Amino acid sequence: MKDMIVLSIETSCDETSVAIVKNGREILSNKILSQIDIHNEFGGVVPEVASRKHLEVINLVVDEALKEAEIKLNDVDLIAATYGPGLVGALLVGLQYAKGLSYALNKEFIGVNHIEGHISSCFLEYKELSPPFMSLVISGGHTILLNVVDYGVYEKIAETRDDAIGEVFDKIARKLNLSYPGGPNIERFAKDGDENSIKFPKSKFEDDTLDFSYSGLKSSVLNYINQNNLNKIDINKENVCASFQKTAVDMLIQNIEKAFNIYGGSKLCIVGGVSSNEYLKNRFKSYFRDVEIYIPSKILCTDNGAMIASAAYYSYIKNGSSDYTLNVSPNIKF
Ligand code: KG4
Ligand code: ZN
Repeated sequence: MKDMIVLSIETSCDETSVAIVKNGREILSNKILSQIDIHNEFGGVVPEVASRKHLEVINLVVDEALKEAEIKLNDVDLIAATYGPGLVGALLVGLQYAKGLSYALNKEFIGVNHIEGHISSCFLEYKELSPPFMSLVISGGHTILLNVVDYGVYEKIAETRDDAIGEVFDKIARKLNLSYPGGPNIERFAKDGDENSIKFPKSKFEDDTLDFSYSGLKSSVLNYINQNNLNKIDINKENVCASFQKTAVDMLIQNIEKAFNIYGGSKLCIVGGVSSNEYLKNRFKSYFRDVEIYIPSKILCTDNGAMIASAAYYSYIKNGSSDYTLNVSPNIKF
């Protein structure tokens, strides 16, 4: 088969990213323009600001991606963009831009689900990896465990019933006056803390589900901070971060162990922003000794265009392109 060059656009949240990827596996460029500094001022992502910024920079990021890949627009075979889930205004910028580019160049266009992008990020890092494997998607908006049965064939095992794990890292960080995004800051503070100093309860369901729940843990940590503030007791941020982080990871490990007991398998991919957490990586690697653990490098863990191109490639091979009536789906379920 002829090589296939995909140009992909990811604008679902606060990163404007454009990548050029060959055959779903080889990154020729992966440009990411982060808006973190802008949103940091507000303590979180401001949707309207995010979409305006995407609009402002998207041309530039496309040019940079082409330049780094040393190709021209006409060398591209397929134009891809994230259509959901994400922020409506932010998604619209990338999706409509991709459609416009596709129409103007007379190249096919394809819409990609952001979660499918995260799952595919492992294909870029591990060239030999192929399904079946189990995949844990942990990000600011998602906590999902699924079996990747084949390329593009997924079997959902579990998901969060309330908050996503990354969202809880961010909310606790904010309460502790640590800057956005909270995950990396919690991890940094946790390094100097004692993870056994505070006992935060792990959520449990009455039924024997494998689903996750993080709102209970979030409330216990926030209550702990509020109570101490009220009583004018200085809290040790390092200990709070370490104890919270340990409990959050314990809860993931506990359910995934159950999932392996039920579904079997020997490979686990961990993807999404939270998977860039080194403590989490070490805990998984030392706990699941009989399982091959795949975690992509940081740049592929957080939102990026290359993962969208990889998912686009496999989806195109299986189902062909999308038509221009495809609209954004901010709340699409996986
Ligand atoms: O995948 P991502 O870039 O965007 C979404 O699709 O949500 O994930 C962002 C999330 C944020 O909640 C951020 O705090 C979290 O990933 N994150 C981390 C770390 N780095 C990023 N959480 C824990 N530890 C980290 N080192
Ligand atoms: Zn994401």
